[in-house]
Amino acid sequence: FRTLDSLDPRGKRILLRADLNVPVRDGRITDRTRIERLSPTIRELAEKGGRVIVCSHFDRPKGKRVPEMSLRPMAEALAEALERPVSFVDDCIGPEAEAAAAAMRDGDVILLENTRYHAGEEKNDPELARGLAKLADAYVNDAFSAAHRAHASTEGVAKLLPAYAGRLMQAELEALDAALGNPSRPVVAIVGGAKVSTKLDLLGNLSSRVDVLVIGGAMANTFLAAQGHPVGKSLQEAEMHDTARQILEQAKANHCEVLLPIDLVVAATFAPNVPTRTVGIDAVPADMMALDVGPDTVAAIEGRLRKASTLVWNGPLGAFETPPFDTATVAIAQSVAALTQSAGLKSIGGGGDTVSALKHAGVAERMTYISAAGGAFLEWLEGKTLPGVAALEG
Ligand code: 3PG
Repeated sequence: FRTLDSLDPRGKRILLRADLNVPVRDGRITDRTRIERLSPTIRELAEKGGRVIVCSHFDRPKGKRVPEMSLRPMAEALAEALERPVSFVDDCIGPEAEAAAAAMRDGDVILLENTRYHAGEEKNDPELARGLAKLADAYVNDAFSAAHRAHASTEGVAKLLPAYAGRLMQAELEALDAALGNPSRPVVAIVGGAKVSTKLDLLGNLSSRVDVLVIGGAMANTFLAAQGHPVGKSLQEAEMHDTARQILEQAKANHCEVLLPIDLVVAATFAPNVPTRTVGIDAVPADMMALDVGPDTVAAIEGRLRKASTLVWNGPLGAFETPPFDTATVAIAQSVAALTQSAGLKSIGGGGDTVSALKHAGVAERMTYISAAGGAFLEWLEGKTLPGVAALEG
């Protein structure tokens, strides 16, 4: 794919696909990470004299103009991050958008309204793609986190204009390539989270590519139960036992070591600061549930990490939002940060809860790379082709 290194934006109108789908509560942005990570691309284009037309989806308005899902408030947030004015245009295509694009001067930045206000966005309707392409001379995609969607603004329009990867897209792809495409070995993957059923493809793909696969979180209960260990009242998926055994066999055939919990932290109820016990995996009481992995498991994971060259982390090891069940996740996060800083471990994390877990542990800045993506990071770990990335290559 082509990067901004091969684009001279001076005097050109650049349609920039951003991902401004940021968390908002009561009308306020609660996490500006995506805005901050995107800003260097916009700044670079504007400083080089480009006319930057930013578009994005926000939430899931399903083709309707849902007022709470307007991108209008993001114009101010973007302006603050960029330290330059950002004007807002009420639609992403049509006469108003065309007039605004035509009136731009070099270095101007405008933000278009939510692409998903048009039903054609999610349908990848060529008409919407043409409407977007009409606004610009070139297309830059900086929305890796939306690249798993084959939509008009991520895929369709990329085929109608000279297309480039923005700096954030480039950083994401380079980090993921270093993690799984062409990694230095041994590679350890930590996969946590609640359900095996949502991570089947991911576990299957990782077991063929990494040297050690650590399985934690509630999904580990399903594997332990499938192996005949008692899991008491723990969250698990009884219908996934066969699948879990197949994943373990496949890993074995691929010479991938699977590290399951050795000990567990259990409690009678799931609530903050309830009394807990640490037990071996054969001693989970019938009336208790596992909510975190125990200290022996933490030590075993740390042993693997000390020998590792690369780590990919997706999903917490325990119910980290509810202390003390954040203990193992925080301990491993701190070890990962220390090894990254002192021993050259390449540590890459991303997807869903992972970023909040790493932030909660206070180590997000000390990892090699944290992806700004949720679903796209997962699909990439599953080995899938992301349409938004493929369109840049095609
Ligand atoms: C995300 O937040 O993961 C992306 O913005 C994609 O959003 P979506 O799941 O609504 O397509």
